[in-house]
This record gives sequence, structure tokens and C-alpha cells, in this order.
Amino acid sequence: MEIQLWREILHPYEMAVEELVSKFNSLREEYRKNGLYSPIERVTGRVKSVSSILEKMQRKNIPFERMEEEVEDIAGVRIICQFVEDIEKVNALLSHRQDMKVIERKDYLANQKKSGYRSLHLIVKYAVETIHGSRDILAEIQIRTMAMNFWATTEHSLQYKYKGELPPHVSVQLQKAADAIFVLDNEMSQVRSEIIDAQIDSQIQTRLVKDILLTIENLYRVASSREVRKIQDEFYRIFGLHDLEELKRFQKQLDIFAEGYRAQSIEPMP
Ligand code: GTP
Ligand code: MG
Repeated sequence: MEIQLWREILHPYEMAVEELVSKFNSLREEYRKNGLYSPIERVTGRVKSVSSILEKMQRKNIPFERMEEEVEDIAGVRIICQFVEDIEKVNALLSHRQDMKVIERKDYLANQKKSGYRSLHLIVKYAVETIHGSRDILAEIQIRTMAMNFWATTEHSLQYKYKGELPPHVSVQLQKAADAIFVLDNEMSQVRSEIIDAQIDSQIQTRLVKDILLTIENLYRVASSREVRKIQDEFYRIFGLHDLEELKRFQKQLDIFAEGYRAQSIEPMP
């Protein structure tokens, strides 16, 4: 196969990875903008290298004509979650989308691999719009926790180092590490709701402070600087109280105050 041809073949896959990563990141932002906890923590993606595609085709005896149907992970996206519970949420979220169709689900959570590997894989059909029209392509979406990702990344490097033939003592050690990861994920689940509350509070505080500072900045244009400075000092004092409710109350008062100026400025001239 010519070099040029590879570039043509892989281009739709590049589009798919880019689009999917961007769409999943948007989901995360939508949760956060609404002050909600996002089951998606991080999204990464990659197009499989030609070398890995060829290696897989050799290993699985896949002819070139069958490559696009049988190498399901040419387009690969990984969704990293904080907690095991989030994986199911992401699964449900993706399963109901109009812009992709899950055609296979590989549940390595319920069925942990012998290596110790755990993740949920969805093989989806996704349409990209190319200059030659719409094209359905396959993409593999791996959904796993940060802890599972840590394990898989490390194990993958070792597989590479030992060319897929891990010495027994290494693979036993990795299985033990996988057991520890399983325990860790369960431990984290026990404090999930507390962690989520804390994270949401921190997001809310960030947004509040941003809003408050913007309002104060706008006030500088209409109110006297003495007045604005007083407000700013009050803001710093309240911020120092480390009390989200106080901060919310302050923002409300400030809004009412600023609204007064806004009303004045649009009053008709006498
Ligand atoms: P390949 O493993 O890619 O040949 O495809 P498959 O048809 O066996 O599918 P499978 O679901 O087993 O693997 C798909 C992908 O999941 C792999 O390319 C890896 O990214 C990941 N994966 C599967 N098993 C393991 C494992 O034991 N360790 C690590 N680190 N990753 C794995
Ligand atoms: Mg495999």
C-alpha cells in the first residue's frame, strides 16, 4: 500500500477522533457550567499508528480488504472517570446519543481480563462528513477510572518492553497491583458523595468569584471609586470567611446594587 493511500485512509479516523474528543469534552463542560458533577473527568484520543495497525493485522490474520471492519480501534477515544459508578453513567450517556450507535460492548469490569485489565469498551459506528460525503467508521471508546488507567498505562509499557511476553514474576506482580487498584476504586466509592460535594462547592466558588469580580469591574465605570473600593474590601472580607453561603448572599446584594445603577443609566433624559 502506498504512503499516500494511508494518509487518505486515516483522515476520516482523524476527523472522528477529533470530533468525539471535542464532543465528550463539551459534555463535561455542560455539567460543570450547570454546577453539576461530571462523570467525565478527562478525555483523550488517538489514531492508531500504521505500525500498530499492521502489527494487529498480522497477529490476527486480517487481510487489507477487511482492515476497516476488523481493526475496530483505528480511531480510539478514552474517557477517564473519577469513580467506578461514573463508568455506567457514561455508558448510558453514550448509548442514547443520536450521533453514534453502539454496536458492541466489551465489559472487562464484570469480566476482568486474566492480565488484570479492567475497562468498559464500546465499539461505536460514527459518521464523519468528508468531501466525498458521509462515511460510517468504527471507533473504540474505552471508559475507565483514573486508577484503572494508571494500571493499564503501566502494564502496556511493560508489555511493550517484553514484546508481549511478560516474565511470570512481572505478570504476578501486575495482577497483585490490579487487585490493589480494585480495592482502591472501592475505597474511593465509599467517599464518593463527599468528594463530589467538595468539588461542586469549589466549582461554585470559582464561578461566584468570577461573577463578583466582573460586576465590581463594571461598577467602576458608573459608581464612585470610593464606593467601589468599599465593596471590594467587603468582598475580600467575606471571601476570607470561607463560607460559600455568605459569598452567595454577597453576590445577590451586589447584583441588586449594580442593578440600581443599570436602571439609572437607562432612565430617559429629563
Ligand atoms: P487488541 O487487544 O487490540 O488486539 O483487540 P481485541 O480484539 O483483543 O480487543 P480488546 O478489547 O481485548 O482490546 C482492545 C484494547 O483494549 C487494546 O488495544 C488495549 O488498548 C486495551 N487492552 C485490552 N487488554 C488489555 C490489557 O491486558 N492490558 C492493557 N494495558 N490494555 C489492554
Ligand atoms: Mg486484546
